[in-house]
Amino acid sequence: MSVVSVQTPGGAYPIHVAAGRLAHLAESIPADVTRIALVSNPTVMGLYGAQVLEALKQTGKAVIEVSIPDGEAYKDWNTLNSIFDRLLGERLDRKALIVALGGGVVGDIAGFAAACFMRGIRFVQVPTTLLAQVDSSVGGKTAVNHPLGKNMIGAFYQPIAVEIDINVLQSLPDREIAAGLAEVIKYGLIVDEGFFQWCEQNVDALVKRDPAALAYAVQRSCEVKAEVVSADERESGLRALLNLGHTFGHAIEAGLGYGKWLHGEAVGCGMIMAAELSVACCGFPAEKVQRVRELVKNIGCPTVPPSWPAERWIELMGIDKKAEGGQLRFVLMSDIGKSHVQAVAPETVATVLAGFQ
Ligand code: NAD
Ligand code: GLY
Repeated sequence: MSVVSVQTPGGAYPIHVAAGRLAHLAESIPADVTRIALVSNPTVMGLYGAQVLEALKQTGKAVIEVSIPDGEAYKDWNTLNSIFDRLLGERLDRKALIVALGGGVVGDIAGFAAACFMRGIRFVQVPTTLLAQVDSSVGGKTAVNHPLGKNMIGAFYQPIAVEIDINVLQSLPDREIAAGLAEVIKYGLIVDEGFFQWCEQNVDALVKRDPAALAYAVQRSCEVKAEVVSADERESGLRALLNLGHTFGHAIEAGLGYGKWLHGEAVGCGMIMAAELSVACCGFPAEKVQRVRELVKNIGCPTVPPSWPAERWIELMGIDKKAEGGQLRFVLMSDIGKSHVQAVAPETVATVLAGFQ
């Protein structure tokens, strides 16, 4: 097992990464917890619920199962309220603890429920998608969607532990693996050239879900994310680098309609676009764009963006949370493993977009 530590102003917590970790969940439940609310959805409960309930039995605490519907469409206020209804109906108290078992949707909403219930109760993240293991379960961003914007209502609220079982990745659909791998590559591109090279060399093993390759990819991704979050929990600077590819990616998701491309798929293609923009804006070596494109292709993500006019792209990107004072801001790379945030004039963006038509 590997252990990665996240240090935030509110305290430190461990991320445990191991094959078979679900069987050891009781180790992350403090002795003074009164009851446990296990928040999940029918898909994940059907696959792993029995194992998790068996593991939690070792705590000797009563477990309440809270089921929410599966899907991004249900990451909303109504579902959040249904969790509160259940917790209050069962008379859980301030020493109750939430276990969030599922992908990013379950983790984000259950984490936000933990942040709000009785002004904050403890929670443990048990991420079951690759994207959730390498990104959403770490760092304390919790949220629900609002009809006017994704993740617009939420809180920074850290779990007391993140428990990652690599084995659960074997039941994921191929597209979900590809989408998660896009976020893995991202860590190499933003700060760790050596890890990017490792991804290039091990891409076949990753796509075939070789347990050792996946375990290392998840561990290294969590290490990078933990370092970034520990330095900048509230995204006042460094944490923004985690958004490489996301400005283009969010435009793709919003423009095609959420769900058409998975978030990670859009980010994968967005990283190719960010690499091209980096050539134009900050000296990213042109020949390295092909390495980014090749790796995105090899993990199974799309590499060709939708062919929209530049005005449509810029309109969609203007809605991005990183746009400030009407200027578009992007995470760009001066080389693989070296990234920064930079404002870019719309005309420059338009020229680069034209190259994709
Ligand atoms: P998801 O939670 O919708 O999961 C994808 C699908 O896989 C679901 O149908 C789920 O039930 C199923 N599933 C989960 N685990 C499985 C398993 N082991 N085997 C088979 N099926 C399984 O999607 P996601 O990609 O995990 O998360 C996306 C969400 O994460 C979005 O809402 C996004 O906003 C959020 N997110 C949050 C952060 C953050 O920092 N908090 C970062 C990135 C993304
Ligand atoms: N997924 C981006 C972040 O956690 O900041």
